[in-house]
Amino acid sequence: MELPLKIKQMPQHIAIIMDGNGRWAKKHNLPRQEGHKKGSVSAQRIVELFVEYKIPFLTLYAFSTENWNRPKMEVDGLFSLLDIRLDEGLQFALGNGVRFRHLGKLDKLPHKIQDKIKEAHELTKNNDAITVCMAFNYGSRDEIVEAMKSIVRDHVKAQDINERLINRYLYTDGIPDPDLIIRTGGEMRLSNFLLWQAAYTEIYFTDVLWPDFDKEELDKALIAYSKRTRRFGKL
Ligand code: FPP
Repeated sequence: MELPLKIKQMPQHIAIIMDGNGRWAKKHNLPRQEGHKKGSVSAQRIVELFVEYKIPFLTLYAFSTENWNRPKMEVDGLFSLLDIRLDEGLQFALGNGVRFRHLGKLDKLPHKIQDKIKEAHELTKNNDAITVCMAFNYGSRDEIVEAMKSIVRDHVKAQDINERLINRYLYTDGIPDPDLIIRTGGEMRLSNFLLWQAAYTEIYFTDVLWPDFDKEELDKALIAYSKRTRRFGKL
């Protein structure tokens, strides 16, 4: 296995905001769905690279709670891509020891997709090569609201509420905070992604559009990360 460089600091968890599919399609005079399709191929390739590099946790932001506001045709297109990728992704996960996790709300998703997500989760839960979290119908504020509701429902006493307890109520329960968030597509914001978990996360922005994000671009992000000094609020 060929590592990008002998870098002194490798992230254990990278979360990616895969932005720029629409602009990629426009640039190539193609319908937006073609950008998403190409983006889903990049996503699969990135999962393969994480297995190769043995980076233990990858989170991909594939559909936000705000994405419901897109035209129905585009939302349906993203669901149908997810449907296909879940089948292919599950085969890959089973063959490569990948554990699959879903982050987000299942309930509003089509039943067929809910079933596939549950099945992928169940069939891969003991895999231990790497963990791939797919944030689909995910919003960070929504995650925090849902956590609070559950805490109240469980009658947790005020004095028992602390950061560890809150972590346990989030979709990311058991997943370490991301060391690095990568956002492609040139925008410099978090867009309701992992707001609680990203308290001390390093952020890497690139103008590269998601469908063009490949091994070389991942290596650049890893090299940039390896040069960061992480202080976690200390001196
Ligand atoms: C942002 O590009 C991307 C999304 C809203 C969806 C991300 C989805 C994929 C990468 C493909 C689907 C993958 C799976 C596994 C279902 P954008 O449409 O906002 O691009 P733009 O800003 O250029 O318009």
